Amino acid sequence: MPSQSSTQQSHADVMDQLYAWQINIYDFTRKYYLLDRDFLISHLQPPPHGQVIEIGCGTGRNLIRAAELYPDAHFTGLDISSVMLEKAQKAIKKAGLEHRIRLVQADAEHLDFDDPVFMPNSYDRVFCSYTLSMVPAWTTALMGIARLVKSNGSLMIVDFGQMKDMPRLFKAGIRQWLKIFHTTPRDALAEGMQKIAALGFDIDISHPHYGYSIFVKAQKN
Ligand SMILES: C[S@@+](CC[C@H](N)C(=O)[O-])C[C@H]1O[C@@H](n2cnc3c(N)ncnc32)[C@H](O)[C@@H]1O
Repeated sequence: MPSQSSTQQSHADVMDQLYAWQINIYDFTRKYYLLDRDFLISHLQPPPHGQVIEIGCGTGRNLIRAAELYPDAHFTGLDISSVMLEKAQKAIKKAGLEHRIRLVQADAEHLDFDDPVFMPNSYDRVFCSYTLSMVPAWTTALMGIARLVKSNGSLMIVDFGQMKDMPRLFKAGIRQWLKIFHTTPRDALAEGMQKIAALGFDIDISHPHYGYSIFVKAQKN
C-alpha cells in the first residue's frame, strides 16, 4: 500500500490511537449507531464491471457487503489509518475478495490526483460512510472526492445529521459522546453540497430517523 506523507502524519496518528483500543469491538458496536450504511450500499447499484471507491473504509465492512451484493464490480478502499487498513485487509482475505477489493492508505484531504488510483473522473461510484464527520478539513476533502466521479456516476454520503427533530437533551448528549471519537456532525453538509452542485451534480438529500443521519446522493451529469 502507498503510505501517506509525513505532513499528514498527525491526523493519521490520532486515528490510529483511537482505533488501536477499539478495533476488536468496532464492527459489533457500530452496527447500533452508524445507521443507514446498508441503505447506502443498496443504492450504489454500480454499472456492469463498474469501479467503486469508499473514502474512509475503516474495517472494510461496507466494501465486503457491497462486493458480495455487486459481484462484477471492482472496489477500492481508502483510509488514513493503518490500524483500520490492517483489519480490513484481514477481513477481505477471510471473505475471499482480495481479487476485487484493493486498499490504499491516503488522507482524503490531500488526494494525489497524479496517482492512477485517484485519477479524476475514474469511478462510477464514490461513497463516504461516517467519514466526513471525522475529517478536519471536510469541505476540502469533499471537493477532492467529487473529482473522482465519472460523468453519469454518483457520489453518495451517509453521516450523522443535524438531529433537528430529536429531543434536545438526546441531541446534546450524543454530540458530546461523539467528541470522544473525534467525530463532529457536519451541520453545513447540505450547504457544502451546493458547491458540488456547481460542479455539475444534481443533489438529493434526505434526513432519516428524525435527522439522526443525513443521506446525500450527488449525480454527475
Ligand atoms: C467512523 S469510521 C467509518 C468507517 C466505515 N466507513 C464504516 O462505515 O464503518 C471513519 C473512518 O474514516 C477514516 N478517516 C478519518 N479521517 C480520514 C482522512 N482524513 N482520510 C481518510 N480516512 C479518514 C478513519 O480512519 C475511519 O476508518
